[in-house]
Amino acid sequence: MNTSPSASAIGDIVITARPFADYTAQFALTTDDLLAGPVLDCAGGASDFAATVRSLGGTAVSADPVYSQSPSHLTHRVERDLNRVRQWTATQPDRFPLDESGQWTHAQRWNTAAGHFLEDFRRDRNENTGHYRAASLPSLPFPDDSFTLAVSGFLLFTYPGHFDLAFHLAAIRELARIATDVRLHPLNDSAQNPCPTLPRLVEHLAEEGVKAEFLGVQGQSDGRDDRTLLLTRQ
Ligand SMILES: C[S@@+](CC[C@H](N)C(=O)[O-])C[C@H]1O[C@@H](n2cnc3c(N)ncnc32)[C@H](O)[C@@H]1O
Repeated sequence: MNTSPSASAIGDIVITARPFADYTAQFALTTDDLLAGPVLDCAGGASDFAATVRSLGGTAVSADPVYSQSPSHLTHRVERDLNRVRQWTATQPDRFPLDESGQWTHAQRWNTAAGHFLEDFRRDRNENTGHYRAASLPSLPFPDDSFTLAVSGFLLFTYPGHFDLAFHLAAIRELARIATDVRLHPLNDSAQNPCPTLPRLVEHLAEEGVKAEFLGVQGQSDGRDDRTLLLTRQ
């Protein structure tokens, strides 16, 4: 059941470009958290989160299957998907505030973040920095304990038609294998339905020695996305 009559699902998995500031708010992260050790963003999409962490002096890697694409192909995909987001947000003005031209008020921020990401992605491909790894959950190409923090935003619980409880468990086991702390956000799908299997997921994780805490946060793209799951291996 939707929490708002006007909340509609976005459909197929989309490449989005949430800016760094949205990540720090939605995952309740301080600069100290980001500089405490290597950080993984999976799925990184077209966000400039990891590039910004590096510009602050930190170490960060993004993983996403779309990083197998060439910079020009990925540029085209990002433009197409951000256009889809613009159309989707425009149909739900009580959920996504629109400016006087009928465009979601965050659209320009996302464009800027995507531009920053694409510039950095192109540099990665030219200079082989290793900052963007083509990879998919639930199997990531990193050794155990590679990161102090892994963040995963707008993937696991966002698309219930794609990912079930078994996938969630496998994906979280993988993230907890490679990172000390794992933060997941949001806990609702793209139509604002809470994940119905979340209590069972947390129970399974507790049996496997992974502690779950719910953090109250300020969702940036939809204010009702107000919880983040913090998972820590015991
Ligand atoms: C909605 S975007 C989120 C991007 C970014 N975290 C943000 O909030 O803007 C979802 C991303 O998940 C990626 N994706 C799809 N399946 C995946 C998988 N199995 N493992 C990792 N990433 C995946 C997609 O390519 C897409 O870029």
